Amino acid sequence: MIIDSHCHLSDARLKDRQEEIISSLSANGIESVFEVGWDLQSSKDALELSRKYSQVWAVVGTHPHDAKSYDDESESFYKRAAQDKKVIAIGEIGLDYYYDLSPRETQKDVFARQICLAYETGLPAVLHIRDAYKDALDILAAHRDKLNHGVLMHCYSSSAEMVREFLRYDCYFAFGGAITFKNAKKDDVIKVVPDDRLLVETDCPYMTPVPFRGQPNEPKYVNLVVNKIAEIKQTDAKVIADLTYQNTQRLFFKYGK
Ligand code: NI
Repeated sequence: MIIDSHCHLSDARLKDRQEEIISSLSANGIESVFEVGWDLQSSKDALELSRKYSQVWAVVGTHPHDAKSYDDESESFYKRAAQDKKVIAIGEIGLDYYYDLSPRETQKDVFARQICLAYETGLPAVLHIRDAYKDALDILAAHRDKLNHGVLMHCYSSSAEMVREFLRYDCYFAFGGAITFKNAKKDDVIKVVPDDRLLVETDCPYMTPVPFRGQPNEPKYVNLVVNKIAEIKQTDAKVIADLTYQNTQRLFFKYGK
């Protein structure tokens, strides 16, 4: 079985099909999905969805795009939500200098506040970093003593050299549909990630893998990501499904949830 470690089923493109998508998970070899919030409302939606379906777990937090909307109300909701048995991480949090939808100083501040939140609530942190790897490393370095519940680099898009930098913080790395794109050139990156640090995800409805690009992504396509990693590492898909499953379990469920 596979765990899709990053979904947005509350996105407008998938919302109407939640029931159908979730009910067909096991037929597609997927045991569970992590529904990830990007702001206060979508984090509330993630919690609600996780309460409704046993196969759904929730990740709550404010995305760097929405950092400018982060406030005390968001923070206190995330803090309370973290007590729920279905909430397994704080995310997605980080820095995105590609779109710069929130001012960089705000992004950095909100990222740091949510790293502290993950620490206080005893949950792992799910990171979204794009074109900001250097600043992200600086912030991790400044919060080294607050990272002891685990860190996942979601949709990891930097170099093999940077993998080594992030491994110093004991990070895990999740890959999605982008590795199937023709110009992906991710083989060397995936080969350098240790077997016990590798996870899979879809980031649906975004990042639809080949050959379904142009359509909204959905959890069932995580199988194409597993197949691609197996091809790169020259092993069976079953081997990758098993090891990514175990890694996801170790990172997210070792604190008793
Ligand atoms: Ni996402």
